[in-house]
Amino acid sequence: MVWLGNLGLTNHTTSVLRSIFQQVTDAIVVVNGQGVVAGANPAAEKMTGWTAEELSGQIHFCDICRGMANCMEEASCVDCFAHRPSMPSFEMKVRRKDGQEVSVAASSTQLQDHDTKMLVVILRDMSEQHRMERERFQRMMTKYMIEAQEKERKRVSRDLHDGVGQALYSVMVGLKMLNELEFDEPIRKHLQEVQQMTTRALEEVKNMAVELRPSALDDLGLIPAIRSYMKRYEQTFGIETELETIGSKRRYGASVETALYRICQEAMTNTAKYADADKVKVRLTDTPHQVELYLEDNGSGFETDQIRIKGTGLGLYGMRERASLLGGTVDIQSAPNKGTSVHIVIPINEKGEPLHVDPSTYRG
Ligand SMILES: Nc1ncnc2c1ncn2[C@@H]1O[C@H](COP(=O)(O)OP(=O)(O)OP(=O)(O)O)[C@@H](O)[C@H]1O
Ligand SMILES: [Mg+2]
Repeated sequence: MVWLGNLGLTNHTTSVLRSIFQQVTDAIVVVNGQGVVAGANPAAEKMTGWTAEELSGQIHFCDICRGMANCMEEASCVDCFAHRPSMPSFEMKVRRKDGQEVSVAASSTQLQDHDTKMLVVILRDMSEQHRMERERFQRMMTKYMIEAQEKERKRVSRDLHDGVGQALYSVMVGLKMLNELEFDEPIRKHLQEVQQMTTRALEEVKNMAVELRPSALDDLGLIPAIRSYMKRYEQTFGIETELETIGSKRRYGASVETALYRICQEAMTNTAKYADADKVKVRLTDTPHQVELYLEDNGSGFETDQIRIKGTGLGLYGMRERASLLGGTVDIQSAPNKGTSVHIVIPINEKGEPLHVDPSTYRG
């Protein structure tokens, strides 16, 4: 630490500064007037992968600096901090000995003492914070996407029901009235065919509206919505279903009800698509602190660590995302010829709202 001796300090001050230099967790790099590294503390050695000996007197600071980041550019050498008397806070990238780049928060100060000019650069590794920020941002985007998707489904479902559905119903009433009049046989036959087609179209519109977002979920709650989904499921796929409820049959926050309904729907759709099962059992358990949904099929099962994606492969991922946004978990157990079970747990408070998110910001 020759550079410290150059500052003309007392022995005591030099010794205190030396131990601070050695022990702080932030990396400190001292650069001489020619821009060459004159000293580096152990934290700087750890950050750069170079030893202090390898750096000192050998390496120009520009060789480890990948440029400052500002709001315009990811990394730039324009207006370099080295030309300023001091720069309290900026971001830069450090190139490590192994070639990897580390994002750091930095500050720099020029020290001028008699003939000696030095630049002290303090660096703090921000990789972990950046990773956490990215993760937080991603979760926020997922949350907004799910919310927007649900809102849009609700809107389209209502429009179908109240718009096209009502119009078709009016057509049906009109056709029924026509049917009561006297017509020749070919016309009557044709009229009946049109009546049947209209009835089928109305049924389809109703089914589409329910598939998009069952009004039972908002009006009556999770259990009635799952019950009527299971009924439709039995009719559509010919797979027997069984619903068991344990504990109180209360309402939960909209985000909890939507998440559990969508996870249940996805798990049961997977069973219908891939499992070749003839039975699905669903159990909803309510306790004061959590709500649990357990689904089990008796189908072909699959290797959970070697999943062979047959569709878009977003279903299981979406289940986990929905549960984790509410602080919950999804556990999937499956093995070839052993069936599949999906177990979801969501922690809730006494009002049935999720414990781990602000319910006013997440409605599901
Ligand atoms: N109950 C099940 N029985 C048998 N295989 C299953 C079951 N559930 C999931 N799988 C397997 O796991 C894979 C992944 O399921 P996932 O729901 O993530 O994606 P997907 O159904 O293929 O596509 P998506 O859900 O996006 O339409 C499926 O392709 C299937 O191979
Ligand atoms: Mg799926």
